[in-house]
Amino acid sequence: EKGGHRHWMAKEIAEQPAVLAACLDHYLAAEGGIVLPEGEVDFSAVTRIVMVACGTASYACLTAKYWIERLAGIPVEVDVASEFRYREPPLTPGTLAIFVSQSGETADTLAALRYCRGRIPTVAVVNVASSSIAREADIALPIHAGREIGVASTKAFTCQLAVLAVLALHAAASKGSEIARDVAELGRMPALLSQALGTEDELEAIARDLAEARDVLFLGRGAMYPLALEGALKLKEISYIHAEAYAAGELKHGPIALVDDSVPVIVFAPTDALFAKTASNVQEVMARGGRVVLVTDAGGAERIEGAWRVAVMPTIAPLWAPLLYAIPAQLLAYHTAIAKGTDVDQPRNLAKSVTVE
Ligand code: F6R
Repeated sequence: EKGGHRHWMAKEIAEQPAVLAACLDHYLAAEGGIVLPEGEVDFSAVTRIVMVACGTASYACLTAKYWIERLAGIPVEVDVASEFRYREPPLTPGTLAIFVSQSGETADTLAALRYCRGRIPTVAVVNVASSSIAREADIALPIHAGREIGVASTKAFTCQLAVLAVLALHAAASKGSEIARDVAELGRMPALLSQALGTEDELEAIARDLAEARDVLFLGRGAMYPLALEGALKLKEISYIHAEAYAAGELKHGPIALVDDSVPVIVFAPTDALFAKTASNVQEVMARGGRVVLVTDAGGAERIEGAWRVAVMPTIAPLWAPLLYAIPAQLLAYHTAIAKGTDVDQPRNLAKSVTVE
């Protein structure tokens, strides 16, 4: 039933190209536009967006903040649900609230939705279409990831990103922007994820070395920063190695004090507009003896010398890079956990659905 895989998590990582393609099929029109089958989300009067979620889903929101602000020019705030609900934030006119949840039953996210309901328009991005969050939001957009059994979220994360990308494109189109090219690039992502899965052996070899570490740092800039957060969470959850993520530009404001030759530093750095900035942070880490695991594309690998390990991903449109780099983030965590012999599908202390706060 695990399709020949040792763990649910391995199966769910491997099936992402197919699941992502099925998800995008629901939202991308053949002629190049966007379809929102569950009811149109109206962005015309939206001047501010708040996004609320927990854990991995909150990192999907943080990624979408970069996309929505860039593509549609609408300011986005992201909150973890446990903070949002008790802060009782002002819900100003023109605000749209988006809630993201795989299970659709997370207690804090549901409570945050109930706080907004009836006061501002609410959209839920959910995997379980019959869930409380799906039922109670004004509009529910299913991510079509299929049942996710591994406790550590993988395919739900990439499908959350896909639906949020669609929402960002839809918002951009409703503000009058041309989206055809970005839609076409999004449609290419399933094939590119397949290629990224082809680097599994290299990532497994890197993971065997990571398994020796006590602490690991993750760095990224722009939309790769939320992915660094997700990579660190995945590693913590299943391998129990202490991991922290920082925006690469924050390094010299404190975290660089942690760097020495016992701390692997995993850097997600596709060649994008910020590559040179990230490369200079990589140099700073290496100058302090830090062991850099550089996850980049062929062009990036040529531009940085002296990394401890390099994993080369396909070259892609920088906008959607977080979708692709989710694969190495997941595979590094998975194989590190395997090397440590931890229970990948049932990590200690964790539950699949957190229905109590
Ligand atoms: C991490 C993970 C958790 C969930 C979080 C929210 O791998 O699975 O961080 O993302 O508990 O759960 P949902 O999406 O069901 O609201």
